[in-house]
Amino acid sequence: MGSCNIPLWLPLVLILVTINSPCTQAVWGNANKMKTADFLTPKIVLGPGSVANRYFYNVDFPKGHIAVKDFNAELVDEQGNPVPLYETYLHHWAVMKYYARIGAGEISELVDNLNSSDYISGRNDGICQDDVNDDFFGAGSETRKTERRVPDPYGIELGNPADLPSGFEEKWQINVHAIDTRGVVDKLGCAECRCDLYNVTKDKLGRPLSADYNGGLSCCYEGTQCRLKQGFQGIKRNVYLKYTVKWVDMDTSILPVRVYLFDITDQWKRTSNSTGINSEHDCKVEYEIEPCNATGWAHEGCFDTKRVSLDMTFSGYMVSGFGHQHAGATGSAIYREDGRVMCSWKPIYGQGQEVGNEAGYIVGISSCYPEPGTMKISKGETLVLESNYSSIRRHTGVMGMFSIYVADELPKPMSAVDIVAQNQENASLLTMV
Ligand SMILES: *[C@@H]1O[C@H](CO)[C@@H](O)[C@H](O)[C@H]1NC(C)=O
Ligand SMILES: *[C@@H]1O[C@H](CO)[C@@H](O)[C@H](O)[C@H]1NC(C)=O
Ligand SMILES: *[C@@H]1O[C@H](CO)[C@@H](O)[C@H](O)[C@H]1NC(C)=O
Ligand SMILES: *[C@@H]1O[C@H](CO)[C@@H](O)[C@H](O)[C@H]1NC(C)=O
Ligand SMILES: *[C@@H]1O[C@H](CO)[C@@H](O)[C@H](O)[C@H]1NC(C)=O
Ligand SMILES: *[C@@H]1O[C@H](CO)[C@@H](O)[C@H](O)[C@H]1NC(C)=O
Repeated sequence: MGSCNIPLWLPLVLILVTINSPCTQAVWGNANKMKTADFLTPKIVLGPGSVANRYFYNVDFPKGHIAVKDFNAELVDEQGNPVPLYETYLHHWAVMKYYARIGAGEISELVDNLNSSDYISGRNDGICQDDVNDDFFGAGSETRKTERRVPDPYGIELGNPADLPSGFEEKWQINVHAIDTRGVVDKLGCAECRCDLYNVTKDKLGRPLSADYNGGLSCCYEGTQCRLKQGFQGIKRNVYLKYTVKWVDMDTSILPVRVYLFDITDQWKRTSNSTGINSEHDCKVEYEIEPCNATGWAHEGCFDTKRVSLDMTFSGYMVSGFGHQHAGATGSAIYREDGRVMCSWKPIYGQGQEVGNEAGYIVGISSCYPEPGTMKISKGETLVLESNYSSIRRHTGVMGMFSIYVADELPKPMSAVDIVAQNQENASLLTMV
C-alpha cells in the first residue's frame, strides 16, 4: 500500500518523529501521509506584570483541502525555548477561521470582532452566541499535557472549496492572552485576573465594573499591569505562540467531524412557544467561586459544583471531547439526562519547576475518547454539563468549557486486507529504525 512510505533520505531524527506520529493509524488502507508543521505567531513583548491579549490575523496555516488531525500550542521565547507558566501564564490561545473577500486589505490587529462585509467569521458548530462560537482550537495553561488528537478515521475538514463563499478565501486568526507574572505580588491572583491586583475598575471600553465583579477578563485586558513586588526589576522580553498542526490531505477515507463548544455558564433556559424551542444562548465564559466558610485543616465541603442542562441541536456520534478549566478545578463532566457519564475530565496539576510540570498550575487535562459508536447524541436530547472547583479560597475568572468533536458516520469495519497492510507497514517501519 505504501501509505507510510517515509523517504529514506530523511535524517533519522525526523524519521523517529514521523514514526511516533499516528502515521500508520491515520490511514485506513489509503495512501495519505500525515504532515506536521510548526508555526510561530508574530512576537509578543512582555515586561514583568504586563498583559497581552493579541488578535493576529492572516496567520500561517496549512493550505489546501485538508483534514486536521491534531493541533497544539505553547509559548516559546526568542530562542525557541518553552516559557514556564510561572514566568508567563498562558491564559488562553484560540484559533478562529474566517473568510476574507479576495482583495480585501489586512485586518488591523486591534479588531477583535469581524464586522465588515469583507469578512465572514467561520464559526464552529457550537451553541453559544457568536463570539464564543468562533474558536476551532484553543486551550489555556493545560495546553502542554493535553492530548487533542482527532482519532482515526476522523479529521476536521478545512479548506473545502465547496464551502467557500464565492469571492472569498479562507484565513485564520489567533488570539493569545498571556500574563507575565515575573516579580508580581501574587502569581495565581494575577493569573486569575483579580481586579484589585490590576487596580482596574473599568473594562477596556471604559465602562465601570460592578462592585461584585472581583476578577476576570474585564480586569486583565491588553495593556493592564499586575502589581509587582516593591523594587522588582526585570527586562522586557519577546514570546511567541508556537503552534503545531498535524494534518492529512482530505480524501474519502476520512470521516469529517464537527466542532461543538459548550460553556458551563450558558444562561440558556428551555422555553418553547408555538413556533418551536427557543435557542437563545448567553455564554458568560467566566464565573467566580465564592470561598467556603469551613475552618480547620479538613475544609470539608469546600467544593463548588456548577451544572447546566442544554438541549442538543444536532445528532451524531461523539468522537472525542476536551475540557477546559482553571487552577482550583477538580474535574468536569458531561452526563446524559439520566445521570450516565458520557465523558469526564481530570485536571493534571504540575508538581515541580520544569516546563510542563509547574507546581500549582493545571499543566494538562485528561481527554475523552469514547469507544467508537458508543456515544450517540440525538437531536433534542438534554445533556448536563458539570464543572467542579475547590472553594477553599476565592477563585475569579474561572471557566468550564467543553469542546467536542462529533461525526455523522461510524467508521466502516477494517477489512482483512487493510489489517495485513498495516501489519506490513509496522514491520517495515521497525526494520528501518
Ligand atoms: C462595525 O462597523 C461599523 C461600520 O463600519 C463601525 O462604525 C463600527 O465601529 C464597527 N464596530 C466594531 C466593534 O468594530
Ligand atoms: C490605582 O488607580 C487609581 C485611579 O486610577 C490611581 O489613583 C492609583 O494611584 C492607582 N494605584 C496604584 C497602586 O497604581
Ligand atoms: C418563539 O421562539 C422563537 C425562537 O426563539 C422566536 O424567534 C419567536 O419570536 C418566539 N415567538 C413568540 C411569539 O414569542
Ligand atoms: C458564610 O457564612 C456567612 C455567615 O454565617 C453566611 O452569611 C454566608 O452565606 C456563608 N457563605 C457560604 C458560601 O456558605
Ligand atoms: C463534582 O462534584 C459532585 C459533588 O461533590 C460530585 O458528585 C461529582 O462526581 C463531581 N464530578 C466530577 C466530574 O468531578
Ligand atoms: C501498527 O502500529 C500502531 C502504532 O504502534 C498500532 O496502533 C496498530 O495497532 C498496529 N497495527 C497492527 C495491525 O498491528
